[in-house]
Amino acid sequence: MTLLVAFLAYALALSLALARAGHRSHASAAPSALHTDIRRLLIVGATGGTGRQLVRQALERGYVVTALVRNPAKVETRHPQLKVVQGDVLDAAAVDRVARGQDAVVSALGHRRYFGPTRILSDGTRNILRAMQAYGVRRFVCETSLGIGDGAGRMGVYYTFFVIPVILPFYFWDKTRQERAIAATDLDWIIVRPGVLTNSAPRGRYRHGRRIGGFVWTVRISRADVAAFMLDQLTSDVYLRRAPGVCW
Ligand SMILES: NC(=O)c1ccc[n+]([C@@H]2O[C@H](COP(=O)([O-])OP(=O)(O)OC[C@H]3O[C@@H](n4cnc5c(N)ncnc54)[C@H](OP(=O)(O)O)[C@@H]3O)[C@@H](O)[C@H]2O)c1
Repeated sequence: MTLLVAFLAYALALSLALARAGHRSHASAAPSALHTDIRRLLIVGATGGTGRQLVRQALERGYVVTALVRNPAKVETRHPQLKVVQGDVLDAAAVDRVARGQDAVVSALGHRRYFGPTRILSDGTRNILRAMQAYGVRRFVCETSLGIGDGAGRMGVYYTFFVIPVILPFYFWDKTRQERAIAATDLDWIIVRPGVLTNSAPRGRYRHGRRIGGFVWTVRISRADVAAFMLDQLTSDVYLRRAPGVCW
């Protein structure tokens, strides 16, 4: 019983810490900069679940896409407007090379090194942000997650009191650093925080905004729908410098 109470106290304290450490959107915080014309797109995390959807849908929308990937053999899509470049997001020089000449960057960076301190998301994102600032690339759309900042607790009780505190505490802590690094820039950024991701077909209808998600039941959304929402943010200023949640 004592152990259970101690665990619940830890899970609650972690959730509060993630709430404080992640980005919190303020109602009046977003100066409304009109988006510029975007044609050339850099996609980071392009071989992942969301990333593959981003590549496919971006090409369908007519963007000229550069995919930064560690292993080009994992890219199945072939398209005249797709350029695949081998590189690691933790290698600042590699990021510099692909960021130059882009109009926007979209990131679905993620990894599976859950069980230890990590800075892959935050360090990789800092490399992206530095390169964007160096080459005047203004718009950045980045996938993080519900469960941090003003999305804390909103993945549902199972994630708040089991998955995040037991499996993902280091991973989510790095996400708060990632979000803070993004929010500290004056770039035209949008942080997209999905619920639990699925590989099912897109529904085309989902909820998005600041108070999205649920404190009780697990909230979900397909990677295909997340990718569509992320690409929509390239040409919309509704969520400029904000961190909307998105789920079915
Ligand atoms: N799973 C969920 O339920 C869930 C819920 C909410 C939010 N999210 C977040 O959403 C994001 C996308 O998740 P996902 O499951 O769609 O993606 P994913 O399948 O985990 O793919 C992650 C991508 O990041 C790439 N990557 C990792 N380290 C890299 C590095 N050092 N340099 C370059 N690329 C690197 C991976 O490349 P490789 O193919 O080479 O590994 C892969 O393309 C993640 O941040 C995840 O935490 C996930």
